[in-house]
Amino acid sequence: MGSSDEEVNNLQVILKQYVTSGSPKESDMQMQSSRIRLKVPDELNGAVLVKNMYLSCDPYMGHRMRNLEDHYIHGFTPASPIEGFGVAKVLDSTHPNFNKDDLVWGVTGWEEYSLISDTATLFKIQDTDVPLSYYTGILGMPGMTAFAGFYEICSPKKGDHVYVSAASGAVGQAVGQFAKLLGCYVVGSAGSKTKVDLLKNTFGFDEAFNYKEENDLVGALKRFFPNGIDIYFENVGGKMLDAVLLNMRQHGRIAVCGMISQHNPEQRDGIQNLLCLIKKCIRMEGFLFSNYVHLYPKFMETVLPLIKEGQIVCVEDVVEGLEHAPGALIGLYSGQNVGKQVVVVSHE
Ligand SMILES: NC(=O)c1ccc[n+]([C@@H]2O[C@H](COP(=O)([O-])OP(=O)(O)OC[C@H]3O[C@@H](n4cnc5c(N)ncnc54)[C@H](OP(=O)(O)O)[C@@H]3O)[C@@H](O)[C@H]2O)c1
Repeated sequence: MGSSDEEVNNLQVILKQYVTSGSPKESDMQMQSSRIRLKVPDELNGAVLVKNMYLSCDPYMGHRMRNLEDHYIHGFTPASPIEGFGVAKVLDSTHPNFNKDDLVWGVTGWEEYSLISDTATLFKIQDTDVPLSYYTGILGMPGMTAFAGFYEICSPKKGDHVYVSAASGAVGQAVGQFAKLLGCYVVGSAGSKTKVDLLKNTFGFDEAFNYKEENDLVGALKRFFPNGIDIYFENVGGKMLDAVLLNMRQHGRIAVCGMISQHNPEQRDGIQNLLCLIKKCIRMEGFLFSNYVHLYPKFMETVLPLIKEGQIVCVEDVVEGLEHAPGALIGLYSGQNVGKQVVVVSHE
């Protein structure tokens, strides 16, 4: 890095226009180069200028490529760099809590350098003896989501029978491992043999299956849960949710984390089996990561040692280069990613 007055090229990923029909495509984004001064403007108090290192591809970003009025999150700004969670190094700061060379994770731009004036979502990285990319996954938003969803929403206890869908992904792999550590019986589903093998051999799930090879999801779940499911950690929605409802046990809990199969507003499934909620006294509850940020210190205290001891592992799917970020993001919607999808913008 040169002097802080230096102006450099800044490669960016831009949303061309909102997606109005079908699934988001790589061609809805484009690369653009602009110029940026590596200094926070003097008049801008409380801001940081960062060099982005690792970017996180997350399913909710597809919602932000659409401009859905009734959604929990607003759309990206067309013709501007898209935003997402990432890990970055502070190059300059006018914020009292952040100093030059601090490492941070939180919401940044999909570009090489970002000027961040809303620092409310930035966390300082204190522990650097784990891979920094982990702060996009197991130690970042997806890990926190798994932690809050499992411990706060699912009311888990030893011996519970737990089912996780999209289980090899960023959130699912963490949920499954939390459940195993608690002494639950855990089954996961995923969309390929490689992912099923990961679930059983790397993450320690008791059983796993490829949902794409099952013509009868109700029967498949019955095979793995002959006595029913106590906890369903919902990541996919649609037909899977319907099949799960029929297999839930009395007083079961369903944490509705995401419904990736239902993102396209033109192609949504109706749910037939909601009556099971009454008959089986099931609690089904949606939640958002953003409502549990206060648990982050407790989360780090719990999860960081487990990672260092090797009791929790993290599988990442890493692509090198910002120019590959659009393809990596779109790959989430067809299951191209094996593990947490990370994009490396720069290693240092
Ligand atoms: N509530 C919150 O605050 C919050 C926060 C973070 C994430 N989430 C949600 O949690 C879920 C998992 O997120 P993640 O970051 O861990 O993603 P991920 O699992 O790492 O990646 C997405 C995976 O979803 C699966 N998938 C894609 N389309 C599908 C479909 N039509 N039917 C079934 N599976 C499909 C694919 O795996 P397969 O190969 O197995 O199909 C894909 O790899 C998502 O629904 C996300 O929106 C919610």
